[in-house]
Amino acid sequence: MDPKTKVAVLISGRGSNMEALIRAAQAPSCPFQIALVLANKPDAKGLEIAAEAGVEALCVDQKPFGKDREAHERAIDAALRERGVEVIALAGYMRILTPFLVDAWEGRMLNIHPSLLPKYPGLDTHARAIAAGDVEAGCTVHLVTAGVDEGPILGQAHVPILPDDDDHTLAARVLEQEHKLYAATLARFVSEQRIKA
Ligand code: GAR
Repeated sequence: MDPKTKVAVLISGRGSNMEALIRAAQAPSCPFQIALVLANKPDAKGLEIAAEAGVEALCVDQKPFGKDREAHERAIDAALRERGVEVIALAGYMRILTPFLVDAWEGRMLNIHPSLLPKYPGLDTHARAIAAGDVEAGCTVHLVTAGVDEGPILGQAHVPILPDDDDHTLAARVLEQEHKLYAATLARFVSEQRIKA
């Protein structure tokens, strides 16, 4: 049997989606393993969670690279390749990517976004959905392409917006769905890639 697909999870903060992917990967039947958790900031909370779960947790701090985002990404890319990473899962990685990393991992980099794309790319998705009077919100897993929060959609989960929701209550309910959606969509994605390979 082939080894499981090696996934790197890129984070900037809390890491709850990352944690959900680590938990999912612990199931014997899961087709992916989390080979690395990588953050762009040393204080990313998720680094501790990953290390406690026994997953390599690495910070490639963006600070020493200053405004040279591509040089930072080249350091990230080198770390991923050293570890034989096959697929990247962005999970709250809050830095816009340059064409370097996007092109290098084309078709092999996924992102999760807290809205029903193409609605509400960018930030403050839940407040914007409530302000617009939407009756539902949700989350999307998509392939990463050059445009921010664009790229082919691989999966979505819908969450009703309740009359007394504010952006916090809605975000919490959507986040629960994010955790399920990301693990399931990533599992399906890597399985399909293997069939094609
Ligand atoms: C998640 O809600 C994720 O969808 C969002 O950041 C949060 C990270 O939480 N990502 C974006 O907004 C990307 N455009 P987490 O660190 O607990 O997974």
